[in-house]
Amino acid sequence: MDNRMMLSAPPMGWNSWNTFFDQINEELVMETADTMVREGLLAAGYQYLIIDDCWATRQRDAKGALTADPVKFPHGIKAMADYVHGKGLKFGLYSCCGTRTCANYPGSFDHEFSDAAQFARWGVDYLKYDNCFRPNTVPSSLLYRRMSMALRSCGRDIVLAACQWGTEDVHQWIRSSGAHTFRSTPDIQDSWRSIASIATSQMEKQAYSGPGCYNDMDMLVVGMYGKGLNPETSVGGCTDEEYQTHFALWAMMGSPLIIGCDIRTMTDKTKEILTNRDLIAINQDPECRGPYRLSVYGNPDAFVLVKSLSNGEYAIGFFNFSDVAARVSLNFWDMGLSVSSECALRFHDCISHEELGVQREIFAPTVAAHGCQVYRCRIVEDHP
Ligand code: GLA
Repeated sequence: MDNRMMLSAPPMGWNSWNTFFDQINEELVMETADTMVREGLLAAGYQYLIIDDCWATRQRDAKGALTADPVKFPHGIKAMADYVHGKGLKFGLYSCCGTRTCANYPGSFDHEFSDAAQFARWGVDYLKYDNCFRPNTVPSSLLYRRMSMALRSCGRDIVLAACQWGTEDVHQWIRSSGAHTFRSTPDIQDSWRSIASIATSQMEKQAYSGPGCYNDMDMLVVGMYGKGLNPETSVGGCTDEEYQTHFALWAMMGSPLIIGCDIRTMTDKTKEILTNRDLIAINQDPECRGPYRLSVYGNPDAFVLVKSLSNGEYAIGFFNFSDVAARVSLNFWDMGLSVSSECALRFHDCISHEELGVQREIFAPTVAAHGCQVYRCRIVEDHP
């Protein structure tokens, strides 16, 4: 059996954990699937509907198989996958490489091949694979390799989303394990502090993400506004400005875009942020090059990210992590555009979707506290 799975861009979807914790059930899954289609999230690229931890019974059945919690999912997991597929979406499920999951349900340790076969029979397209309760004599790399092998032989194309949290230098070896994405940080929280800390921690690891295996900076908290049933995630909430910056960072840094809010009640602003076609196009750019970071003279909390796009354009993001508005300046010289080139940059604003025209030598927008501005820029001839 072959598995020809190749992810040509970071996966996009929705996951139950950030908002719903263990309060998941059939109704939530079906309503979320309906909403993904009705509200245009599928059309914007959000394909995967992923059920996180707490879907199973506390113990395996008499034959050693994982079974769905009969109260939460009375019709079983296959019925959920069928419903989700019927909407044109793909279906994701969760397990763990240790003996138990992080919320203490059965893990797949030493059941990898039979669990993978079970997931294939149910119609799973994406497996989030966590890192709790791992026997401490067994390195994480062996267990991700093992599940990758099990999925590659299960007869169905299943994305392996390694939820490894960035330990054991995961970025160094995860691509070779066969996994398609790798969580590189501890769990995100619905706060500006958590967003800024995750983004900062991955700035120097951009070269490790790319086609085939993407650095997963964790699920989005956009639109949670401090609500949700997960006490670990819901810690106060963010402003729309901060959610916008969060989304722009994840887009520019090539992370999977996995929505974590309750989309059934999302605000218009949340929907606008999540379906921004210009930022999604930057995230899904075919070459998936990581951006480089330029610092801003005199302001350690401001920086510019520059990402080369496959059509010759550049995505340029101006970020201000400080608590007051600041000018964030980019000297085009620092991107490689010399004065003698007789070239300039034409700017398209990816948040307002307006054309800004041609800018020469330097561009220095004022950026709100915790804010950003992102442009798509084309090199144009500019003779004096
Ligand atoms: C870990 C993961 C989270 C979530 C929970 C579920 O903490 O990092 O994303 O899947 O487990 O228990």
